[in-house]
Amino acid sequence: MQKKVLSGMRPTGKLHLGHWVGALSNWVSLQESARCFFMVADWHALMSEYKNTYQIKDIMLDNVADWLAWGIDPEKSVIFIQSEISEHLELFMILSFLTPLGWLSRCPTFKEQIKQLKEKEINTHAFLGYPVLQAADILLYKANFVPVGEDQLPHLEITREIVRRFHFIYGKEVFVEPQPFLTKIPRFLGLDGRKMSKSYNNFIALDEDDDSIKRKVLSMFTDPQRLRRQDPGHPGICNVFSYYKVFKPELEEEVYSWCTKSIKGCKECKADLAAIIVGLVAPGRERKKKFLNDKDLVYNILKEGGRKARIFAEETLREVKKAMGLW
Ligand code: TRP
Ligand code: SF4
Repeated sequence: MQKKVLSGMRPTGKLHLGHWVGALSNWVSLQESARCFFMVADWHALMSEYKNTYQIKDIMLDNVADWLAWGIDPEKSVIFIQSEISEHLELFMILSFLTPLGWLSRCPTFKEQIKQLKEKEINTHAFLGYPVLQAADILLYKANFVPVGEDQLPHLEITREIVRRFHFIYGKEVFVEPQPFLTKIPRFLGLDGRKMSKSYNNFIALDEDDDSIKRKVLSMFTDPQRLRRQDPGHPGICNVFSYYKVFKPELEEEVYSWCTKSIKGCKECKADLAAIIVGLVAPGRERKKKFLNDKDLVYNILKEGGRKARIFAEETLREVKKAMGLW
């Protein structure tokens, strides 16, 4: 049987190249070989953004327009909004019965977020349960694979533990133990060498305009030891070089050589990279316009996706209740 894939993104801000490299490009290619479910994780977004509810709808629309513009195809994949399928919260509750508190309070992402996002006041009941809702997302569709970044591995592990515990307690194999599916992309960082993130403002948005891309790429740090044009550079420690490896791998050797032999200066090297990124972003940005100008088109895609997703979610929840002797 065809394998199933589920993944989600929280609608908390604009999508940028980090999302493309780390997730979206992977989603697009998985569509060819698996039955894919791509979800807007709006409940998960609300766990940290419950004070900014008014933004979520616009961000969601903008994010989904990017998905569609960059190649997520509603003919091939089921695209839906988490909160439209009430089974997510129902299964979240059921799984909460049997998830020990220790699994959640010891989860490294939980501990880190509580420390990092102090101003968001996320020391809440729901936020502790974040991985349980994520487990419900995955298990409702019996996904075999979950494309995620490395930071999400602890959540996948909790999902797998919940599956085993449910099967052990109720003696019926209702769920599928999902496997993480990591991207093969080399490390990809923000413009300043830190993780690409909206809070660091070190990103290039998926719909960034050409001038702004050029300005941002030209502002990137390079090899700090290469002070003059005639000094040889060290590509191994230059973030610009790692961008070439991601976006134009076939140029890797050439860049290495123009850098180490001082054939090109950093400014020229960055201008070339900017042109490559413009070439990648501009077509997506143009395709996105169609979706932003026709919101009904996007809403209809989401509605149709919801209809398809619901069929799977309802069926799984029926099986769950039956296994628990509730039905
Ligand atoms: N927690 C994920 C993230 O922050 C988003 C997410 C929610 C998700 N539900 C999911 C990812 C289910 C994969 C599967 O990136
Ligand atoms: Fe980096 Fe390019 Fe400068 Fe080399 S030439 S240090 S790769 S920006």
